[in-house]
Amino acid sequence: MPIVLKTRDEIAIMRVAGRIVDDALQKLVSRLRPGLVEKELDELVRAEFRRRKVIPAFLDYHGYPATVCVSINDEIVHGIPGDREIKDGDIVSMDLGCIYKGFVADAAVTVGVGAVSPEAQRLIEVTRQALQRGIDAARAETRVGAIGAAIQSYVEGEGFSVVREYVGHGVGRQMHEDPQVPNYGSSDSGPMLREGMVIAIEPMVNAGDWHTKRDSDNWTVRTLDGSLSAHFEHTIAVRDGEAEVLTLP
Ligand code: MF3
Ligand code: CO
Repeated sequence: MPIVLKTRDEIAIMRVAGRIVDDALQKLVSRLRPGLVEKELDELVRAEFRRRKVIPAFLDYHGYPATVCVSINDEIVHGIPGDREIKDGDIVSMDLGCIYKGFVADAAVTVGVGAVSPEAQRLIEVTRQALQRGIDAARAETRVGAIGAAIQSYVEGEGFSVVREYVGHGVGRQMHEDPQVPNYGSSDSGPMLREGMVIAIEPMVNAGDWHTKRDSDNWTVRTLDGSLSAHFEHTIAVRDGEAEVLTLP
C-alpha cells in the first residue's frame, strides 16, 4: 500500500478525531479504581462515542469484539475487556480509536492503580518518555527509523526492552496504513517522513525480555517471560516539518 499524505483539511478533521479519542481515554483514566470490571471501561467508551457520534475504530476490526483494548500487567496489547476486576497495584494499558468523518485516530496510555511497585511505576514513566522521544524524532525529511532508534536507545539504556513483533503504523483513512513504525532499529532505515504524513507511534516496553506470546483468544498479547509491560500511543501528523500530536486536547 502506498503511503498516503493528508491535506491540511484532512489533518484538521483528524485533529477532531484525536481530541475525541483523548477525551475518552482521560475519562477511562479517571474511572480506574480497584474493583472496576474491565467491561465497564468498554461500556463507557461505547456511550461516549455514541454521544459524540463517532464510530469505534476497533469494534469488528478483523473481528475484534470491543471498543477498547485493556491489557493488564504482563499483557502488552489487544487484551479484550471482560469480567475481570481491576486490582490494587495493577498496571492497566488502555488503547482506543475512533472514526470521525471517515478518518481514524488511535491512542493508548498505561496507568498504575493504587499502590503500584516502584519498578512498575518506573516502567510506566520510561514508556511515556519513550513515546515523547519518538515524537521528538519524527521530522520531515528524516527516516521513520529515527523514531525507533530514539525509542530503543532510551528504553534499553533504562534496562528495559522494546517489543519487536508489534509496531506503530500509518493511520488516517484506515487504522493501519503504511508505513510500519518500529520501536527499534537503525535511524537510517525505513521510508522518509514527509509533510502531511500521519502515523501512530506506540512503544510497547517490557520490564524483562522483548519476546511475546498470544493467548488462545487469539488477541491478547503478553510477555513470554511474564514480566510487566507498558504501552503509550499518540497519533501524530508531520506539519511544518515537525510532529503535531493529534491525540491531545
Ligand atoms: N492501536 C491498536 C494497534 O494499532 C489497534 C487495536 S487493533 C484491534 O494495533 F483489533 F484491537 F482493534
Ligand atoms: Co495503533
